[in-house]
Amino acid sequence: MEKIISLSKRRGFIFPSSDIYGGFGSSYDFGPLGVELKRNIKEAWWKDMAQLHSSVVGLDAAILMSPKVWEASGHLSVGFADELVECKECHRRFRLSELKEKKCPECKGELTDPKQFNLMMKTFIGSVEDESAVSYLRAETCQGIYVNFKNVLDSMRMKLPFGIAQIGKSFRNEITTKNFIFRMREFEQMEMQYFCNPKDADKWFEYWKEERLKWYKGLGLNMKNLKIHEVPEEDRAHYAKRQIDILYNFPFGWQEIEGIHNRGDWDLSRHSKYSGADLSYTDPETKEKYIPYIVETSVGVERSLLAFLCDAYQEVEGGRTTTTESTKEIETVLKFHPGLSPVKIAVLPLLKNKPELIKKSEEIFEILSKEFICQYDEAGAIGRRYRRQDEIGTPFCVTIDFDSSEKNDVTVRDRDTMGQERIQISELVNYFKEKIKI
Ligand code: GAP
Repeated sequence: MEKIISLSKRRGFIFPSSDIYGGFGSSYDFGPLGVELKRNIKEAWWKDMAQLHSSVVGLDAAILMSPKVWEASGHLSVGFADELVECKECHRRFRLSELKEKKCPECKGELTDPKQFNLMMKTFIGSVEDESAVSYLRAETCQGIYVNFKNVLDSMRMKLPFGIAQIGKSFRNEITTKNFIFRMREFEQMEMQYFCNPKDADKWFEYWKEERLKWYKGLGLNMKNLKIHEVPEEDRAHYAKRQIDILYNFPFGWQEIEGIHNRGDWDLSRHSKYSGADLSYTDPETKEKYIPYIVETSVGVERSLLAFLCDAYQEVEGGRTTTTESTKEIETVLKFHPGLSPVKIAVLPLLKNKPELIKKSEEIFEILSKEFICQYDEAGAIGRRYRRQDEIGTPFCVTIDFDSSEKNDVTVRDRDTMGQERIQISELVNYFKEKIKI
């Protein structure tokens, strides 16, 4: 994990937030490469959920909502609280559920009795900071979907079953935050809520579970590093009739990256009751009237990013190349699916200070960067430049040499096979589109 954290900072993926002030409470900033990786994950999810499923539409709801939403959802009561204990000696605080013994894991001091600690982030709306101005930053994006169920149903002339997908920030005042970006107080969620007839909820649960597993597989995640955990009733979220967690085998152990929930009619019934709005549905053909059940898939952007990063990380002792430039150092390669790689193509003139090579390389860079995120690099020996690209997971390097002007072709080097082939410049865009698509 230390190596991944260090690479993330050194190569511009992830920085501690407010770094020059010593960091801030497990907030992280995504650097130039991190932001591309994040965008690619979100786009891959959006394409899979909202574009390829004709029964799923999108939404972008506000982070700040009526506080009544959170009363109705159960988040302001014990439903969304962790049990917190404090060490009487060093005053560190821990989630009870994470402790293996009844002593402080840091100093072995005695612990207080557990207290309920609500995870909602409170804020004030407007200029007066009194109770009537209290609001909350949303703790899950899906509540914005539930309160828009009727709006989407009516405006889009939807029929059940249908789904609403959303990507956005969520906030939780987590007690313990560790393991890098695994548990943060500010994070993004990709959530899809599928509204269906209660009779069909089990069927849709199985369907979406399979769809979500296919998504990870399609993005090249090693399926040996994924497993399903059927959550027993006593450990389920307060709204869940059934819950499975998709776990990833992180360097710090098997941990949840995604939750799939059958939320029953919990959310729509509660919002009907608290708002007075009728959120029932009448089937236009059978005239059957019911409160729809909701099958939810919910994954954190950063948490899945960490899984993709850990999965892609490989070290090769003694180096992968046998050229004279190869060193005895450990070479690091990030073997991302090309569609996820932050930089798709590196454009490398064989030598710098050769105007004809630079001119041709700049021309090629201009063509390719209209279609893909590219990097131009002319500094250092070519082997060293390949290794720099391997370390950030760039799937392809294009090298422009003295033949390029004459023959109108370049060498394309593949990150994983390290094989090289000559490709006509006019073919490059199509060649890469085919290789990079998700
Ligand atoms: N709407 C359902 C829901 O929010 P959850 O299991 O609490 O369910 C779903 O969260 C996903 O959101 C988790 O599997 C994880 O990927 C992500 N997530 C939750 N809390 C997080 C945190 N503090 N930091 C980063 N990601 C988090």
